[in-house]
Amino acid sequence: MTLTIRELHPGLGAEVGGIDLREPLTAEARDELRAAWSRHGVLVFRDQDITDEQHVAFSRHFGNLEVLPERDYTEDRLPEIFILSNVDEKGEILPTDSAAVTFNSLTWFWHTDSCYRAIPSRGAILHGIDVIEGGGGETRFANLKQALAEMPAALRARIDGLKARHNFVWMRMHRDLAPMKPEEAASVPPVEHKLVRTHPDGSQSLYISPVYMERIDGLDEAATRALVEELTEWASRDRFVYEHVWQPHDIVMWDNTWTMHLVMPYDHGHQRRVMHRTAIAGTEAVL
Ligand code: OGA
Ligand code: MN
Repeated sequence: MTLTIRELHPGLGAEVGGIDLREPLTAEARDELRAAWSRHGVLVFRDQDITDEQHVAFSRHFGNLEVLPERDYTEDRLPEIFILSNVDEKGEILPTDSAAVTFNSLTWFWHTDSCYRAIPSRGAILHGIDVIEGGGGETRFANLKQALAEMPAALRARIDGLKARHNFVWMRMHRDLAPMKPEEAASVPPVEHKLVRTHPDGSQSLYISPVYMERIDGLDEAATRALVEELTEWASRDRFVYEHVWQPHDIVMWDNTWTMHLVMPYDHGHQRRVMHRTAIAGTEAVL
């Protein structure tokens, strides 16, 4: 088996060919994928009609798997699978004011996954099962290493050394979602992470997750919102962003340590979108 890797955007993203994710992964292919994942930030595999079991088995090659704190959105049989869907078990589109659809539309804001953990996730692997064809529902990924490297010096000087508080429970309140179950809320207390992150190889990136950022060190509420907005706007410029247009059974694997992402809005009352995701646990804090 020979893997092929083709860049998709100057900033980040590559399409991987020559692999069938239903088959066991060789150690050699795993090592190549690990290297490509770190280098390109986002890997795209086309036409991979895998089962959830195969999805989990493939994901385990890259680390331990997380389970989402809200068990309403994980698969009963396989809790490592997080289900992002606007469709019920019978295949009917859910009302736009249902909890699941409101929860889904949180992904329409820029974020990095699991930033609400003391050790945020290393990455994620997302399977597009029912995808939108004809506009909407694309996923955008921003390169936060490049965004930091090219940041104007004046903005950079304002964030060096600062920390932000990331808070799952606050985010839900702020977005008018029903309160979490108390034991689930207790499992995700607020955490602080630096805005400028240094990775084990010495490289640096911006580390932001705008929808979860309750407060930046030393700033009041209004100044926090203004700085989060300014950083988000800076980092989401076209030259830092790869936009993934989904085809059925695409698998997209991203690095959560130096990218952020969002889903482009779609007509969730009429367009079906069903995605299954695993999350690979991180191994180091944001330093
Ligand atoms: C996620 C997420 C993006 C998408 O699963 O964490 O943000 O395209 N999904 O559904
Ligand atoms: Mn996400």
